[in-house]
Amino acid sequence: MEYRFALIGYPIKHSLSPWIHQQFLKKAELDGEYFINEITPDDSFEEQINKLKKMNINGFNVTVPYKQKIISFLDEIDQTANVMGAVNTVANQNGKWIGYNTDGIGFLHSLKNRFPELHEDKSSRILIVGSGGAARGIFYALDAAGFKFIDIANRTIEKANVIKKLGSSTGNVLSLSEAEQHIGNYDVIIQTTNVGMKPLVDNTIINVNKVPPETVVSDIVYQPIKTKFLQQAEEAGAAIHFGHSMLLYQAQYSFEIWTNIKVAMNGLDRELQLILE
Ligand code: ATR
Repeated sequence: MEYRFALIGYPIKHSLSPWIHQQFLKKAELDGEYFINEITPDDSFEEQINKLKKMNINGFNVTVPYKQKIISFLDEIDQTANVMGAVNTVANQNGKWIGYNTDGIGFLHSLKNRFPELHEDKSSRILIVGSGGAARGIFYALDAAGFKFIDIANRTIEKANVIKKLGSSTGNVLSLSEAEQHIGNYDVIIQTTNVGMKPLVDNTIINVNKVPPETVVSDIVYQPIKTKFLQQAEEAGAAIHFGHSMLLYQAQYSFEIWTNIKVAMNGLDRELQLILE
């Protein structure tokens, strides 16, 4: 059987997803293709989706700016996607179009894979910086996995409060300056905003140059691969976790939803890093 997958979003011409899924197809020894189906703001979204559905594809990924918009075109969405209010993976299951969200679980597994001890010890004190869609997915996945102490810091406090209510972990909502003041209190710090992304590479949302060396510092931004945030943390002696790793693991989950095959990641993390560097 020949698999067919696609990506919708805008702009997506330089997306890394086709490369990632080609590697997965190879590893799984499956024939297939993963193509880019860019939908511009001038296109009719409905027409484009109907065309895609008629193409006999197994599924597609959804990225910015369509993760919410796609929902009304699906037959069902799973519980996580429902809580997220956003879908990044759609699967054709016996003619029904089902929506999922693999972003949060992808992040969790990228972290767990690199730092297995964190997952075992769910008493780790975690700080999530930011309260957009990515923060929401990450908080939800960590909370569901049983992590008990999760603080959320954001410029707009109200948005952090909304996320906090999605889970049962203890922890506080903080301003960015409060988080910076207490930066030594955490085992894991996760930067989820686009601050530090190209072209504004010189910004950090909070300073992490005073983190204790036993801290794990993660940034979901992967362009540049080593953000200023990660540079600061590394200079302080902390262990750093790169953003491209989340990209890879959310894709692994999408691929598993489509094919029922969990591909082994060995070597791919490093290969993707070399492409991005
Ligand atoms: P996504 O869905 O990709 O996570 P988003 O919903 O646009 O993106 O959220 C962006 C996040 O980055 C938010 O936490 C936003 O803070 P606010 O909630 O206060 O808007 C944060 N953010 C973006 N630019 C920022 C800046 N210059 N300073 C501080 N926070 C910023």
